[in-house]
Amino acid sequence: MSTNTPVSAAADLQTPLKFAYWVPNVSGGLVVSTIEQRTSWDFDYNKKLARIAEDAGFEYALSQTRYAASYGADKQHEATAFTLGLLGATERLKVIAAVHPGMWHPGVLAKWLITADHISNGRAAVNIVSGWLKDEFTNFGLPWLEHDERYVRTEEFITVLRGLLTEKDFSFHGSHYDISDFTLSPAPLDIPGRAHPEIFFGGNSTAAQAAAGRTADWYFSNGRDLEGFKGNISGVLAAASSGARTAPAKPRFGINGFVIARDTEAEATETLREIIAKAHRPAVEGFAAAVKEAGQSTKDGKGMWEDSTFEDLIQYNDGFRTGLIGTPEQIAERIIEFKKIGVNLLLTAYLHFQEEVAAFGRDVLPIVRELEADLARKNGTELNTDLLPATSLEGSPA
Ligand SMILES: Cc1cc2nc3c(=O)[nH]c(=O)nc-3n(C[C@H](O)[C@H](O)[C@H](O)COP(=O)(O)O)c2cc1C
Repeated sequence: MSTNTPVSAAADLQTPLKFAYWVPNVSGGLVVSTIEQRTSWDFDYNKKLARIAEDAGFEYALSQTRYAASYGADKQHEATAFTLGLLGATERLKVIAAVHPGMWHPGVLAKWLITADHISNGRAAVNIVSGWLKDEFTNFGLPWLEHDERYVRTEEFITVLRGLLTEKDFSFHGSHYDISDFTLSPAPLDIPGRAHPEIFFGGNSTAAQAAAGRTADWYFSNGRDLEGFKGNISGVLAAASSGARTAPAKPRFGINGFVIARDTEAEATETLREIIAKAHRPAVEGFAAAVKEAGQSTKDGKGMWEDSTFEDLIQYNDGFRTGLIGTPEQIAERIIEFKKIGVNLLLTAYLHFQEEVAAFGRDVLPIVRELEADLARKNGTELNTDLLPATSLEGSPA
């Protein structure tokens, strides 16, 4: 693994990296494979997982939104309800609910988010995703918009959402939403360091990067290699600096990665080989056909899953591509390479979530923290350790 990536101007060396995990609220785990996965989609499993994660030093969990079976995930729990349940079961973890414009009205979501913010003492967030599973929309009798029009709607959706979270007598007249003189009361909690509950955005295409750059607090991408993700960052930053950005602070960056941390590189590689060898072929092939509604349907053919191989799609968010597979040291070094290009958050998935989230906190995170402190020092600055999340080893924050 390369350790020579130059530090980009987009990198924030003072702020510790943040870590998130995918909430397994859909059945079948996060890889479409018949390999043993000691991961369950039910609430009890997830409640315990959330507590393990916050003790291990994770700051965020991301609930997925899915209404219909796909890639073998034949059972799904609704993201916003699940998110509230997990917030109630934890004390420090921030939980992000994925939401589709087109399924939700932004005013209804703003109201939900404010209530969730009050209930959780400022720990609720949303991930706005534009969708790819056409049947979910059309079988519900909802319009399925052409790819780039979905992002026009998403951008309006976030503008309305933020407007309703932050302004009184908010009005907006766009092509998808028409809001007149609306004030939501109560407002979100007044918490120092944030303008409102955080708005994440998941997408990869050129249209997604532009919309995120103009509107999102956080841009999330599918798994990518370093060169690939550098392209996403520059696309988002170009839109953010175009003068059309409506969000208060500059966007921050998160990338998905499937983690296989084992004592030796050979064991980790062998686990990946077994996942692929035991792929659930019909489910992966069905998924490959359905995702043609995403990246491949764009005008420039660039977007999520545009060039994903059969192997990539076994982790349905291209998580193998990020390369978090090896020993704890190798994974920590790889994570630092992503920090150098401007990544602020690692969104992670595992084969056996409870065991491996705990192991990640124990074996990988301490090395990441050492390496990021070194990196800061070598570049003439300091890692701000006041911003590190508490772990069970250090005890809870005051
Ligand atoms: C981190 C991340 C999380 C996502 N979560 C969901 C989800 O929960 N449900 C969903 O339908 N799509 C989800 N998506 C996919 C988006 O809805 C969208 O289909 C995808 O970004 C492809 O669009 P693009 O080609 O324009 O990038 C997610 C995407 C990313 C990057």
